[in-house]
Amino acid sequence: MNGYCCIACATTQAADFVGFVCPSCGGNLEVTYDYEAIRNEFVQDFDYSPFLPVSRLDAPFPLRVGRTPLIAATRLGESLGLGHLYLKDETRNPSASTKDRATAVALRRARDVGAETVAVASTGNAGSSLACLAAALDMRAVVFVPESAPVAKLTQALSFGATVLAVRGNYDDAFDLCLKASSEFGWFNRSTGYNPFTREGKKTCAYEIWEDLGRRVPDRVLVATGDGNLLSGMWKGWRDLHAVGLIDNLPRIDCVQSESSAAICHTIRRIREDADTNADPDWSTLVVDDVKATTIADSISVDRPRDGLAAVKAVIQSGGDAVTIPDEEMLAAIPEIASATGVFAEPAAAAPWAAVKQLARDQKVAPDELLVCVVSGSGLKDIANARSAVGEPLSVDPSIDAVRDALRE
Ligand SMILES: Cc1ncc(COP(=O)(O)O)c(C=O)c1O
Ligand SMILES: [Zn+2]
Repeated sequence: MNGYCCIACATTQAADFVGFVCPSCGGNLEVTYDYEAIRNEFVQDFDYSPFLPVSRLDAPFPLRVGRTPLIAATRLGESLGLGHLYLKDETRNPSASTKDRATAVALRRARDVGAETVAVASTGNAGSSLACLAAALDMRAVVFVPESAPVAKLTQALSFGATVLAVRGNYDDAFDLCLKASSEFGWFNRSTGYNPFTREGKKTCAYEIWEDLGRRVPDRVLVATGDGNLLSGMWKGWRDLHAVGLIDNLPRIDCVQSESSAAICHTIRRIREDADTNADPDWSTLVVDDVKATTIADSISVDRPRDGLAAVKAVIQSGGDAVTIPDEEMLAAIPEIASATGVFAEPAAAAPWAAVKQLARDQKVAPDELLVCVVSGSGLKDIANARSAVGEPLSVDPSIDAVRDALRE
């Protein structure tokens, strides 16, 4: 890395800057690289290390983060006449969500700056991820979650030995408290959006998709969105590849939100309605909407997106769609994906497939488009919601006649 650039006002900072947000306007920062220098490092083999802002990358990491499978979802795609649908199965990460990519880079950064305690505010997955990887690296994790977080995510974090603080409030309350506590106690704060290094971890998902597609760029990547960091990370990955000349075109990044937690989609639509040209809006004055989120998908239930501006910018600049789906369609998508592919998604992670269905209904995708849905977290993390989508097992007496009767029904 060679420094930072503010996503809102574009003020830059040198690489030795130690803060987290823009000193001029308080906006989130993006890590920058000397792409010309990186371009000259490549001969044939693509290597992630010039694109990662951490030292000692050769030191082995004790858990396998990333390198998740890209699955051709042939039957699922064919159900809509789509010939090239893929799932990026992020459930295979150590704590079973895509958050591990961000945590791995953030923890290496924490080590680089001499921090031993790392805190995070989380709807659940970032907390279980921090707890998991901190346990593997023998670091201390402090996790702030809303008290409504699903029991599996809480149980993961507790099992990994983190200090878990269940805040009597929502995610936004947990976020603000984590900020205050980190500054009070001198902890490294991994919270999404605020910490510029999480995006750098998430972007590696784009590199892998590109490599697994045989160095092809998909037409669309669909990303479930709450704070907007996963989406802006995905966009950064493709921009990195483009900036060093490895690809000549960029995918559209589609923002998928629940209708009942859609701050980023609302903002994108507002910009598009207001714009009389295709020019970018003035990012330094753009305000991302707030909502009162009520979705059942805890991972993407966010009132005030903490990386909203970066996500809005990514969708506008990539020409992606802003797709909002009802919670019922998100829930229905869980068994649809699972039964057609063998991949079990939590509600948020099933949202991209629900969005593909909506885009197909609206005739916004062509049958030959190459689509990638990011399945960002495992269904085992939220059994209660998955259960509500699948009905009950067949109840039988322990006799073969009972089985025969049950199968007839
Ligand atoms: C499973 C899952 N999908 C998607 C997201 C959305 O990521 P972001 O909040 O960065 O938009 C999250 C975030 O918690 C998540 O846990
Ligand atoms: Zn700024």
